Amino acid sequence: MPLTTTQRQEMLRQAKAVLDSNWREGYTVPGAALYPFQWNWDSGFIALGYSHYDLGRAKQEIRSLFKGQWQNGLLPHIVFHVENDNYFPGPEIWQTEITPRAPRKPRTSGIIQPPIIGFILEVMYQKSAVKRDILAFAEELFPQVLRFHRYLYTCRDIHREGLVYIQHNWESGMDNSPTWDTVLAKIDAEDDRSIASSRRDLQQVDRSQRPSDVEYQKYLHLVDLFMQCKYEDKCIAESCPFLVQDPFLNSLLIRSNQALINLAILLGQNASELKDWNETSIRAMNTKLWNARNHSYDALDLTTGERITTSTSPAMIGPLFARVPSESQAHLIVERLRGSFARDGFYLCPTVMPEQNEFEPQRYWRGPVWININWLLFHGLRQYGFERFAKRVADDSLVLVQKYGFHEYFDPRKGAGGGYGASGFSWTAALIIDWLA
Ligand code: GLC
Repeated sequence: MPLTTTQRQEMLRQAKAVLDSNWREGYTVPGAALYPFQWNWDSGFIALGYSHYDLGRAKQEIRSLFKGQWQNGLLPHIVFHVENDNYFPGPEIWQTEITPRAPRKPRTSGIIQPPIIGFILEVMYQKSAVKRDILAFAEELFPQVLRFHRYLYTCRDIHREGLVYIQHNWESGMDNSPTWDTVLAKIDAEDDRSIASSRRDLQQVDRSQRPSDVEYQKYLHLVDLFMQCKYEDKCIAESCPFLVQDPFLNSLLIRSNQALINLAILLGQNASELKDWNETSIRAMNTKLWNARNHSYDALDLTTGERITTSTSPAMIGPLFARVPSESQAHLIVERLRGSFARDGFYLCPTVMPEQNEFEPQRYWRGPVWININWLLFHGLRQYGFERFAKRVADDSLVLVQKYGFHEYFDPRKGAGGGYGASGFSWTAALIIDWLA
């Protein structure tokens, strides 16, 4: 049942209240208890939500994020604007002060997250009534966003093939997705019993909905390696057991490149560097990562050369959103999504195929529905003309939030489910605002 006008208005009011309560001085925390700092791609989605009713905050959000940008262009996944003991691993674990490239203040983590600010700026521009204002803001931000993309293409694309690698599962934004299982299995992290007591997430959320301690040990083992390398990309590329070309992150990069190209035209700027990167990236996605049998894109483990064929919906949704597949490839992908993910008894869109062994409907990125992934799917489907399917995605997202609240993620099983993780989760609220607008 579609929501009534009154229900929509009430939902909008509640969504704004979530963002209000998560707003700090100049930026928004993803969730007050679980994530008390500023996160990279969260801020992009959050700024889009604000842009519908408070452009000042939308701009501050993005400007604050770029205060954490490194000299080499790296845009870190967390910016620690304040001190807070409720999160692990905090700045004392990352120790980014060992590299002169990281800012002293604010302190930051030492890895990236999906580069979405480019396309967020363009979507804000498209939807805005004050286009001149947004264009001026885009002009201000343009060099910084470009520097981030340049960092990715120069330091994270070893073979100059247009596909950047991630060196940590946290960089993908999808921390414990089964995509990383075989890669992490190669890491023999020591049995560190203190990890369980260091973790702060388990004080907020039930263990069964979060990554395991062993997984956390591996995550920290990688951070340790980055520190030993003093955050030098060359050293990391030579010694890191986790070097993966991820189709989801590369797709969001492609979509952001395209957005910067479109904005450059409006701003009268040269975009030839971006065009070159983008053509190479799209070609490489379709020649190297496309899986013609599964109708999906595979991740590639650069340390072994092996494809990772685990089926997750983001590996199909990212490319659709970025218009990477041709019309015929897109039809195959959508058929696959319909058959394997959009099944009776499930809300759209589970992140892992329900019939797969790895599917865990309440464990973080191993099955639950996430509103940002649904938002990407909605726009991806519409670009190829799948309007009815797209409407189902939007309806399911609104129903889940209406029923359970502004959670971080949702059990995809109808009837059995609920909302999990953080409760007043910022990007859920921000993207609902965008939908309702
Ligand atoms: C989790 C998510 C990541 C998000 C962060 C803050 O680590 O996996 O995508 O950015 O929380 O919300």
